Amino acid sequence: MAIRTIVTEGDEILRKKCREVTDYNERLWNLLDDMAQTMHSADGAGLAAPQVGILRRIAVIDVGEGVIEFINPKIIEKSGSQTGQEGCLSCPGEWGIVERPETVKAEAFNRNGEKFVIEGSGLLARAMCHEFDHLDGILYKDIAIRMLEQDELESIGRKKLKLKRKEDIER
Ligand code: CO
Repeated sequence: MAIRTIVTEGDEILRKKCREVTDYNERLWNLLDDMAQTMHSADGAGLAAPQVGILRRIAVIDVGEGVIEFINPKIIEKSGSQTGQEGCLSCPGEWGIVERPETVKAEAFNRNGEKFVIEGSGLLARAMCHEFDHLDGILYKDIAIRMLEQDELESIGRKKLKLKRKEDIER
């Protein structure tokens, strides 16, 4: 496993539409392992393949309950709404307020090419929307209600703003 370099905003790779995964092979498994390690080492709750320079429909999410790997994910249902703070490993030091569905149901494939369906609420729903948007070249800043100002970041404390725990995001 290896930590990969995270691409930051301004790099055009983040604006491209990713292609579907067709081969479930060792190369994919290595990428998934590296993405999880890269996400954890950056203290993030999710990471999409274009953020490590790979234009494929792959994302990993860990909202504190272990890593979930998503290959060729599709949102098939959404309901409700939540408004909260969101950040992105590709936009370091910035945070915005984003409205997302409260609950999301998605289908995707696991690393062996087996289809699964997952339903998530709260932070998991937010993370799925955020990461899957990356696969279409969309950043949360594109749809944020507003970005947090410097004084807000300082008053709340940047550390606490990290997309790690549910309480942080809903406050
Ligand atoms: Co992101």
